[in-house]
Amino acid sequence: MTRFYVTTPIYYVNDAPHIGHAYTTVTADALARWHRLIGDDVFFLTGTDEHGLKVQRAAEANGLTPMEHADRTSDRYRQTWAGLDISYDDFIRTTEPRHYQATQKLMQAAYDNGWIELRPYEGLYCVSCEAYYTEGELIDGNLCPIHRTPVEMLKEENYFFKLSEFSDRLLEWFEQKPGAVTPEAKRNEAIGLIKGGLRDISISRTSITWGVPVPWDAGHVFYVWYDALINYATAVGYGADPARFGAWWPEAHHLIGKDILRFHCVYWPALLMAAGLEPPKRIAVHGFLLVGGEKMSKSALNQIAPADLIPTFGVDGFRYHFLRDQTFGPDGDFSYEGMVARYNADLANNLGNLLARVSTVVERKCGGIGPAPDPESRLAAIAASVYEAAASAWERIAPSEALDATWRLVRETNAALEAAEPWKADPGPAVNAVLGDALEALRIVALLASPALSRASQEIWRRIGLAGAVSEQRLPEAAAWGGYPAGSRVERAGPLFPRITE
Ligand code: MSP
Repeated sequence: MTRFYVTTPIYYVNDAPHIGHAYTTVTADALARWHRLIGDDVFFLTGTDEHGLKVQRAAEANGLTPMEHADRTSDRYRQTWAGLDISYDDFIRTTEPRHYQATQKLMQAAYDNGWIELRPYEGLYCVSCEAYYTEGELIDGNLCPIHRTPVEMLKEENYFFKLSEFSDRLLEWFEQKPGAVTPEAKRNEAIGLIKGGLRDISISRTSITWGVPVPWDAGHVFYVWYDALINYATAVGYGADPARFGAWWPEAHHLIGKDILRFHCVYWPALLMAAGLEPPKRIAVHGFLLVGGEKMSKSALNQIAPADLIPTFGVDGFRYHFLRDQTFGPDGDFSYEGMVARYNADLANNLGNLLARVSTVVERKCGGIGPAPDPESRLAAIAASVYEAAASAWERIAPSEALDATWRLVRETNAALEAAEPWKADPGPAVNAVLGDALEALRIVALLASPALSRASQEIWRRIGLAGAVSEQRLPEAAAWGGYPAGSRVERAGPLFPRITE
C-alpha cells in the first residue's frame, strides 16, 4: 500500500489562527482526504510550535506562564480545525515529552556524527529583547529598534551546526530529486541559497530557558527552529518506535509558506543528513494570502479569522474558496467579494441548482425513484476524462485545477439537462435516461468534490439515495460510470448552498 504522510507547518502559539493558517491546513486536509479515497495509507500531521522567546514574551504580556499560554492558544488551533472539519491523524505540540525525546535523540546523533560544535558567538545584544541584532537593524547606531535603549556587545557560547559542509550533498539531493521542492521557482530559490554560500548556524541559546535542553550540555536549549523542524520526525516515532519511523520516513510531504523555505528546503534536509537520515520526499511551497495587497499580520491589523467567514459561507463554502480560488503556489489576494462571487457561481448555482433540479424532476416524473444511467451516455466519457484530470491535479498538489476539472462535469450535466428539458417532457424512457445520467454525474461529483466539500458531498450522496459514507468509497473504481443503483429513493430538500445576496 502506498503511504502518504502530509504535514502542515506547526503554528506559533503567539498568534491566533487566521485564514492564512487555515489555507495551508485546509489544503493538507483535502490532500489527505484525496489520498484516503484512492486507498493510500495516510498520516496527516498538524500541531503547534510552542517554544522560543516570542512565545515566552506573549505569555508574560498576558500574565501567564509560557505553558499556560501555550495550552490556551494550542487549544484555539484545535478548535478552529475542528470547526473546519480538519481530519488530522495527529496534533503535535512541541512541549510534549515525546518531542523532547525525539529532538534530543536526533540532535545527539548529529552531534555524535561530528556536525555540531561549541563556538564563541559575539554580537550586539538587547537585554530586554534577549535577542541579537545586526548593526543595520539598530536605530541611531546603537539603539534597539524596539526598546530604543543601547545594545551591548555580548559574547556567549553557542552550539553551531556545520551547515556550510553540506552544500555539495544538498545540491546533489536537489539534482537527484527534481520533484523534491515544488514549484520549480521555489526549487531554484533554494538552490540559489545554497550556491550563494551557506554559513554555519547557531542552534542553541543560553539566554533562554523555554526550549528543549541540549542533552549533552544542560545550560543550553535548542533555538526554537531546531526543535520545531524535528516535529515531523517525532510524530512518526523517531527515536521511540524504529519500525514505525521506518515505515513512514521519508514519505513526508511538507506543505509550507514561502517565508519558511530556507528552514525547510535547506536547513531541515541538512539536519536530517547530519543525523544519518534521508531528506523528506517533498516540500510544496505556497505563497501568501494577501489582504488588500498585504500579508496578514498582527501589526497590520488585517487578520481575518475563519470564524468571521464560516457563518456566511458554511464550512464547505470556506474550504471550497481556499482550495478553488487560491491557486497553490503564487500569492493570492483574498477578497470577500470574490469569495461571494465564487460561492454563488459554483456552489449555489452550478452544483446546488443541479441537485435541486434533478431531485425536483425525479420527484415529478419518476415518482421520486432514481432511474438507471445510460452506459453509452456522452457524459460517461466526460466523467472519465474529468477523473483523470482531477487525479493528476491532486497528485501535483493543484486543488484549484482538480476542482475546476470536477466542475466541468457539473457544467456539462447542467448543459445536458438544459438541452433535453426533461421537466417539459412526459415520463418515459427518454426522461429516465437523462435523469439517470444526471444522478450518476452527481454521484461522481460528490466523490470527486469530497476532499473539498467535507459535508455537502455526503449530503448529495444521501439525497440521491446512496447508502454509507462517501469517505468509505475507493477510487478509481467508485468513480467508474454506471455505479448509480437504479431504484434508489431521491429526496428533494431545501437549497444545499443558499445564495448569498449581501
Ligand atoms: N512555527 C513556524 C513553523 C515551524 S514548521 C516546523 C511558523 N509558524 S507561523 O505560525 O508563523 O506560520 C506558519 C505558516 O503559516 C507558515 O507556512 C506561513 O507561511 C503561513 N502563513 C502565515 N501567514 C500567512 C498568510 N497570510 N498567507 C499564507 N500563509 C501564511 O512559521
